[in-house]
Amino acid sequence: MQILKSIWRWFDDITGVPSWLILLAKHPVPHARKSAWFYVLGSATLFVFILQIVTGIALASGYVPSAGEAYHSLAFINSTRFGSIVRGIHAFGASAMVILIGIHAIRVYLFGAYKYPRQMGWLTGVALLFLTLGMAFTGQLLRWDQTGFWTVVIAAYQAGRTPLIGNWLGHFILAGDTAGGATLSRFFALHVFFIPAFIFFFVGFHLYLVVRNGISEPPKAGRPVEPKTYRKWYQDLLHRDGVPFWPDAAWRDMVFGFLVIAVIVVLAVVVGPPALGKPPDPSIIEASPRPDWYFLWYYALLTLIPRWSESYVIILGPLLLVVVLILLPLVVYKGERSPFKRPWAFGVVAFIVFMIAYFGLVGHVAPWSPRMNAPPLPASVVGVKSGPIADGAKVFHDKGCEYCHKISGYGGIRGPDLTYAGDRMTPEQMETRIYSGAPNMPSYNGNITQQQLSDLLAFLSSRRRRPAIPLPVSSSSQ
Ligand code: HEC
Repeated sequence: MQILKSIWRWFDDITGVPSWLILLAKHPVPHARKSAWFYVLGSATLFVFILQIVTGIALASGYVPSAGEAYHSLAFINSTRFGSIVRGIHAFGASAMVILIGIHAIRVYLFGAYKYPRQMGWLTGVALLFLTLGMAFTGQLLRWDQTGFWTVVIAAYQAGRTPLIGNWLGHFILAGDTAGGATLSRFFALHVFFIPAFIFFFVGFHLYLVVRNGISEPPKAGRPVEPKTYRKWYQDLLHRDGVPFWPDAAWRDMVFGFLVIAVIVVLAVVVGPPALGKPPDPSIIEASPRPDWYFLWYYALLTLIPRWSESYVIILGPLLLVVVLILLPLVVYKGERSPFKRPWAFGVVAFIVFMIAYFGLVGHVAPWSPRMNAPPLPASVVGVKSGPIADGAKVFHDKGCEYCHKISGYGGIRGPDLTYAGDRMTPEQMETRIYSGAPNMPSYNGNITQQQLSDLLAFLSSRRRRPAIPLPVSSSSQ
């Protein structure tokens, strides 16, 4: 015991870190009373971020960031009990981080905590919000399965339609003209080096500012922020009514943080990681896949607005959001903080939550959203176990036709139901459609072999209400 103490004192003497940490832990914060639990969201986001680093490093140790091996290395990670739990934690952790940072931002906005002197805290927070979304976006591609791959490719194509900088932007995202190994390397570098480096920097800056300017006191109606007098008033408040951060306030951060992590781990064990889709297939290049939930609402929004406006909205929407978020603390930096004196603040929050929830739901159930997880057609539907028809049914699934077309209740509903395709169309008509595509159907010209096509046509032609050849009428009944 004595020896530990002397090591501690020696370390403190030559570095000063222990004393500094104690000072930091004991620094006074406003006594938040009834609103105290509102102050745990930021630290919980940080806890989940640390969880993401740990699980991310574990995943990166087994993941091979090359186009040929990425999918299989993930499939291998997934096949081990430990690997699948780590993947699950990383996936649920990503969702948790996006949710927590979102609610944290909403809390800070409602409490008016972005006002003087905490403007830079808000601005670094905005940077962290977008960096977190950047992590969510780049992480999706690393799955290197059909959904993750195409979501990013489609996003790049859409970004490519941006006026003026579109071409450059599309190239930048894909690291070339088309998606491939270079895209994966670029996203891997962004996801594990580049964006995290920025997150570390901004987290450090953000925390430094929290300590320097102090945690905002709970707002009170009729007590506006006056920059000239605020600092002195805040110091007086701490003297009068402050409590040491540790343990008076910090215990709540601990309890909530551990609770969040426990929920993530339980979900990872019980529900498991999101299933890996099929490996990416270039032949369904224009099928619109559905992104993970954080972007689904925006994707739905883009799909529902008039087509001509899409190229503008896709880039101007987020740009406008960034500008508003940056201007907010610079323009409205003083005055009332209480949300009850700023009732429109509730309106703004309600609008944002509504947009995300409503369009997210629309995106989830919308007919245009292909069913990327449609299972292969069961033998009971196909009718035969081998031969061209059975092979054609397999092509129908493997080439992604089933994402958009239903057969006997299996598959998506973006395109017409093909349960009785054989009744309506000749093989020649089907062939034309498959080669030429349609406004919402990709052309398979060059992406399907003669053999696959003839099997596919045999299969589709066999989809009939009535048998193709009338059954011979038995003579006994005549
Ligand atoms: C991205 C979604 C999508 C994919 C993938 C897709 N289709 Fe389609 N398909 C459509 C849509 C939408 C239409 C309707 C086009 C129109 O007429 O406006 C259509 C039309 C058709 C038609 C004509 C149906 C009719 O009743 O007129 C056939 C046949 C067809 N598709 C076969 C296929 C086959 C075979 C595949 C796979 C090789 C496939 N489709 C893949 C979306 C898709």
